[in-house]
Amino acid sequence: MSKTITGFSKLTKEEKIEWLANNFFTDVNDGIKTLNQYNNQSEKLQQLHDEFIENTISNFYVPYAIAPNFIINNKPYAIPMAIEESSVVAAASLVAKFWSTRGGFKTNVISTIKVGQVHFMFDGEYEDLKKYFNQIKEQLFAATKTITENMRKRGGGILDIELRNKTADLENYYQLHVTFETADSMGANFINSCLEAIAEAFKNDDIKIVMSILSNYVPECLVRAEVNCDIEDFFSENAEYYAQKFIQAVEIANVEPYRAVTHNKGIMNGIDAVVLATGNDFRAVAAGAHAYAARSGKYKSLTNAKIENGKFYFWIEIPLSLGTVGGLTKLHPLAKLSLEILQNPSAKELMQIIAVAGLAQNFAALKALTTTGIQKGHMKMHLMNILNQLEANLHEKEIVTKQLDGKTVSHNTVAAALHKLRT
Ligand code: MEV
Repeated sequence: MSKTITGFSKLTKEEKIEWLANNFFTDVNDGIKTLNQYNNQSEKLQQLHDEFIENTISNFYVPYAIAPNFIINNKPYAIPMAIEESSVVAAASLVAKFWSTRGGFKTNVISTIKVGQVHFMFDGEYEDLKKYFNQIKEQLFAATKTITENMRKRGGGILDIELRNKTADLENYYQLHVTFETADSMGANFINSCLEAIAEAFKNDDIKIVMSILSNYVPECLVRAEVNCDIEDFFSENAEYYAQKFIQAVEIANVEPYRAVTHNKGIMNGIDAVVLATGNDFRAVAAGAHAYAARSGKYKSLTNAKIENGKFYFWIEIPLSLGTVGGLTKLHPLAKLSLEILQNPSAKELMQIIAVAGLAQNFAALKALTTTGIQKGHMKMHLMNILNQLEANLHEKEIVTKQLDGKTVSHNTVAAALHKLRT
């Protein structure tokens, strides 16, 4: 038996599983049973999933949930979230309700420009390169004409092609920095196809193309979401004290990267869950968001808070490159349903909804952290995971959940309660 293999992708699914089971599974039957349990019963649906990627042997589920009662620009939304982490959806739902009685969320899209670059090397005179670029620029647009035709009909296309001299950073390094408007699609394939056509038309004996690829850094594809209320509405008691404490928590994230990363991770709990549920690329969104958080040269909070004229304000500004057409958005049945639940938003509307999900999540985290701490709520939601780990049956779950109501939950307290019940 060998733990390496050639031609794995050529095997049938059954053969792949057999090879894997024989080489890596502790219990062959158990492992195969688990894989089969996660296979979809509908052959058609399973085939669809199999064809999303290569070497598929089963599916990996995450829970799919709804956070209702979000009011965004006076319109109600129920937000679908795909996430495995306890308490994220519960927190989103609570925050949605909280702000629904305080005017809801207000959002606007600031810009929708996306970027792609042709990276190349040239060791001649910059002035000569500039001259060549200016001569050929129209031809570069022309080279993408067939690719951009449909996009132009939808109001998108290439906005500009710019020559950038990067030789101060790396010897002989230049770029064609290309800006795009991609309407309701995220546009990754469109951008990459355009860039490759541009590179092909641009290259010559002196210009050595290194690569052509979109950038997931989209600081000009920016959305803003905000909540505000009179300070006295922020909390039933000591509202000003808690509002100040909340603002201090944001200020700490702005000066302390150790805290900022966790602060922004909490924001991404909300954002990624909706990005995933709508069939969008959460790795691209996360990479772009974190880079934006570090745009000043220091990694900072993606949210801001202030008190002004007796009012508490809390807002987020975040780059989000999203699509509501193309990619998996209409192909994955649950992604399609998520968009339906969100009332078939445009990409711009989806940017606003997802920014709200991030702001809401950060609000929940900071409110808990600056008051009771997060463990009480978190462990309450985590209780079911612990009970499942300890193989509690339905009856035991019910009794232990009741017994621990209002108490701080830990693995030990649950194990002790279960032990007592069983003996
Ligand atoms: C946990 O997934 C997220 C938090 O740690 C975020 C935060 O600390 O702001 C609660």
